[in-house]
Amino acid sequence: MSFRTYNGQDIDVEFNVKLCIHAAECVKGLPNVFDVDKRPWISPDNEAADHVAEVVERCPSGALRYRRKDKEPNEKASTPTVIESDSSGKLFIRGHLNIETDEKMLDTSRAILCGCGYSNNKPFCDNSDICRN
Ligand code: SF4
Ligand code: FES
Repeated sequence: MSFRTYNGQDIDVEFNVKLCIHAAECVKGLPNVFDVDKRPWISPDNEAADHVAEVVERCPSGALRYRRKDKEPNEKASTPTVIESDSSGKLFIRGHLNIETDEKMLDTSRAILCGCGYSNNKPFCDNSDICRN
């Protein structure tokens, strides 16, 4: 569960490709910060840190997270924890989560878990063909 860090002046953004299910909230929300045609694809300094943080928090899978460096508060987990499902089997969870993985415990505030049983990245949804149909 390793995250790659993209450093900015006021905020660092971290990304874990194994958790991303390409919901595209990031690229739709701030295309000048999240641009898959650029390298690096995340440029935190292209927008105000508050906007970057707001869009990162829209990422449903927890593939994106951030660390403020400007003394502003970091993300607060939802209380109480909220779990929603959709017809594909995905379980969308927001809260203070400790998720056991093959590697280590993941401490996160957002996750999409697999409810269909076909993910190759359990317990997380990997947006397999089956759950997309
Ligand atoms: S919002 Fe999150 S899950 Fe969606 S494409 Fe961006 S990083 Fe991936
Ligand atoms: S719910 Fe998406 S792979 Fe199972």
